[in-house]
Amino acid sequence: MISNQTATSTDAQSSPFLIGDTMTGGYGKGPDILHDCTIAVNPGEIAVIVGPNGAGKSTAMKAVFGMLDVRSGHVRLDGEDITGLSPQDRVVRGMGFVPQTSNIFTSMTVEENLEMGAFIRRDDISGTMEQVYHLFPILKEKRNQAAGELSGGQRQQVAVGRALMTQPKVLMLDEPTAGVSPIVMDELFDRIIEVARTGLPILMVEQNAKQALEIADKGYVLVQGRNAYTGTGKELLADPDVRKSFLGG
Ligand SMILES: Nc1ncnc2c1ncn2[C@@H]1O[C@H](COP(=O)(O)OP(=O)(O)OP(=O)(O)O)[C@@H](O)[C@H]1O
Ligand SMILES: [Mg+2]
Repeated sequence: MISNQTATSTDAQSSPFLIGDTMTGGYGKGPDILHDCTIAVNPGEIAVIVGPNGAGKSTAMKAVFGMLDVRSGHVRLDGEDITGLSPQDRVVRGMGFVPQTSNIFTSMTVEENLEMGAFIRRDDISGTMEQVYHLFPILKEKRNQAAGELSGGQRQQVAVGRALMTQPKVLMLDEPTAGVSPIVMDELFDRIIEVARTGLPILMVEQNAKQALEIADKGYVLVQGRNAYTGTGKELLADPDVRKSFLGG
């Protein structure tokens, strides 16, 4: 059922694999950006966060990844409270995060980017690299080129591939299709679905709200740092208020 909410902890009761639960907080000593904001994802699921520019989507993702302190609320991974952990410790626990900006090293080659992605690993990474090249064949072709020379869509593939190099248990993507053409967007979504089918839960922010909700098992509409609507992708796409206000009718 669609819920039109202020704050919810219903997600917490079913204890999702990854949840930022009723998070309130902002940057440094600045004002709160998030207000009782909850986002979560389960294995096999694609959860999508949509909402207007400045709604706090990236801030919510950063809060889940430990890049800002929440004043109240909790982040739990696989039942464990990780609210106090640093981003690096969260990577060690199995979180992969592709931020909205500066998500690759442009002067390094594609392959060096992937190697950097595996920084926490001490074992043989060649198998994982082959998996990434299998998922994104163009990256194998361009593996010795500087990542900065690639197209927007290819750079996003490098960014996602880099996050996959740690063999994460959950993948967080902030606008993976930003700045790419509709065709490239469809291709990226197909790859993301392919990754999700392997069982890896994916929590992502998208500005292409309609298309993203079409592939979403679960959707969150954030407005001014709050959960405005939550439902399955289908439910949100069918909701007249959501359509009118956020999907262009
Ligand atoms: N590093 C920061 N320091 C202080 N305030 C910030 C910082 N980053 C974002 N903000 C503020 O937090 C609010 C939410 O921004 P955020 O980037 O989370 O929105 P968003 O929903 O991701 O927007 P967009 O769709 O444009 O990516 C905005 O008012 C923004 O100015
Ligand atoms: Mg953002």
